[in-house]
Amino acid sequence: MMGGKNAHLMAEYQAAQDNMSKAGTEYVRGIPVVKVFQQTVYSFKAFKQAIEDYSQKAEYYQVSVCRIPQSVNLTFTEGAFIFLVPVVLFMAPKALADGDFAGFVTDFVFYAVFSAIISTALARIMFAASGTMLANAALRRIDQVMSAPVLPITDSPKTPQGNKIEFKDVSFTYEGADVPALSHVSFTAEPGQTVALVGPSGGGKTTAASLIPRFWDVTSGSVEVGGVNVKDTDPHVLMDNIAFVFQNNRLFKTSIFENVRAAKPSASREEVIAALSAAQCMDIINKLPDGIDTLIGTEGTYLSGGEQQRIALARAILKDAPIVVLDEATAFADPENEVLIQKALAALTKGKTVIMIAHRLSTVVGADKIIVLADGSIAEAGTHEELLSKDGLYSRMWADYNQAAQWKIQAKGGER
Ligand SMILES: Nc1ncnc2c1ncn2[C@@H]1O[C@H](COP(=O)(O)OP(=O)(O)OP(=O)(O)O)[C@@H](O)[C@H]1O
Ligand SMILES: [Mg+2]
Repeated sequence: MMGGKNAHLMAEYQAAQDNMSKAGTEYVRGIPVVKVFQQTVYSFKAFKQAIEDYSQKAEYYQVSVCRIPQSVNLTFTEGAFIFLVPVVLFMAPKALADGDFAGFVTDFVFYAVFSAIISTALARIMFAASGTMLANAALRRIDQVMSAPVLPITDSPKTPQGNKIEFKDVSFTYEGADVPALSHVSFTAEPGQTVALVGPSGGGKTTAASLIPRFWDVTSGSVEVGGVNVKDTDPHVLMDNIAFVFQNNRLFKTSIFENVRAAKPSASREEVIAALSAAQCMDIINKLPDGIDTLIGTEGTYLSGGEQQRIALARAILKDAPIVVLDEATAFADPENEVLIQKALAALTKGKTVIMIAHRLSTVVGADKIIVLADGSIAEAGTHEELLSKDGLYSRMWADYNQAAQWKIQAKGGER
């Protein structure tokens, strides 16, 4: 039933079951989107497909493969006792006639107990077999993860000197992608400078930032930190020197205190509070029932996107690394939050080498250098003034940005 050529059927059946739970989770998570956009039939197409696939596989496996062996198996293991009854009925008169009724009863008890043990033992063997199959399938999945290539680490690491960041003719293609996400990108951030990466969505900003802490390795060219290729640096030293604020921040489902302290496990409570305060988080802390010990993600204590961003900034402030890579969240619309975030950013980036990805151009006006990335290449580079005078992509983006800002003021003034 489970071995030989049926093993792969069993694996398919389990994979279908897996798919169904994944599709189900995705569907439930997407319910707000489905509601807002009034999607009905199409939205659960994938989920429906997964259920149908599962029921088809389950039916085939259970009906065609398992029905007969399982029926035979259950009849004999679970029902062995039944066969004793006719035997007893058949033999009882003879035993009575022979006068050895006591011996007959003892025999009967022996077989009754023995048959029950056999059925339990067989059932155990059966469950052990299916357990082994499940374990094998799970092991295969673990193997898949474990066989992912290990980040190559150098045997003789070099020590970075200073915090200069340099991209030298960097190209990078994601595995399985046809077009490079970055091609021939070169720029330098001197120690203490703020270099801003801007440009259209999908231009390669996040990708470029991810190459600095080696989330990926370049396809060609090199990324240098402190004059040393990141591939020749001890990864721990590299990570110690970089604080990274992600575009989509994930807070752990634990207290705010632990969430911030993750950046520096040795930090004291006072240090964590100081970081939270520098990141303008005190208003969040004050309104929560247990202050910094409030568990995030439990009932009633969800934080807004802007609030999560500020907690993430507190985490980066606590780390106090000389290099800061900031991938600004695309959207936190309310102006109050924006002011607080600007203050938190100022606290974080003071005196640091900063690579800042910005979606709102107001953030980058003061940057030492602005790199405009479009379709994976540098379209333009320079300071805000230089780029405006060039009348290129940046000046168009700036005009659009200002128009959008102006539109907001007009709308508030009631002119539209
Ligand atoms: N993990 C990934 N695997 C494959 N392709 C990816 C991956 N991440 C990004 N890409 C692709 O690489 C290109 C650059 O993406 P990237 O995320 O760097 O853009 P971005 O400039 O940060 O955009 P945004 O402003 O929307 O954040 C895009 O075409 C994107 O689809
Ligand atoms: Mg991005």
